[in-house]
Amino acid sequence: MSNVARIGILTVSDRASLGEYEDKGGPAIHEWLTQAIKNPWEAVARIISDDEALIEATLRELSDDEACCLIVTTGGTGPAPRDVTPEATEKVCSKMLPGFGELMRSVSLASVPTAILSRQTAGVRGQCLIINLPGKPAAIAECLHAVFSAMPYCIDLIGGAYLETNPEFCAAFRPAGAGRG
Ligand code: MTE
Repeated sequence: MSNVARIGILTVSDRASLGEYEDKGGPAIHEWLTQAIKNPWEAVARIISDDEALIEATLRELSDDEACCLIVTTGGTGPAPRDVTPEATEKVCSKMLPGFGELMRSVSLASVPTAILSRQTAGVRGQCLIINLPGKPAAIAECLHAVFSAMPYCIDLIGGAYLETNPEFCAAFRPAGAGRG
């Protein structure tokens, strides 16, 4: 395994993929992760439409071919007919981790009542953790701050890259006795 961790950043938006709308979510995820992660990592970014088969294919490509240990998606988690990111995530994952969505919704509810409209979830595909964030750029930092401390250990448990964080920004939690890789 290369010592540079690879992280997929997937923007799911019909309008952003057509260039009708500037993608603000993908860059916000990149900026947040740059502050949070201390070891060398590189982003593999994609912007695609809200097409379920395409989302599934892109998640497979990022995890299986691009060897990402983490994929963070933004957009397509709501109740509208074209919102299918959680469905695509479930289709490609072998295990779901519902605690991520529960905590992100609960934290987001303190700032917006519509937080409950997001069906955002997370799951595992091979050695890759996939996590959904809503499409609103303001949701990115709020959601990542809520759950990121548990993500490096989750990635350890599935055999992905060992992520070290900047503790003053976001301290990773690993249970006592959890060894490195
Ligand atoms: N969560 C946070 N933290 N901040 C937000 O502004 N917007 C909500 C919700 N979760 C929001 C949020 C709204 S209005 C919707 S419709 C859902 O996320 C789904 O958004 P998506 O379809 O863009 O993923």
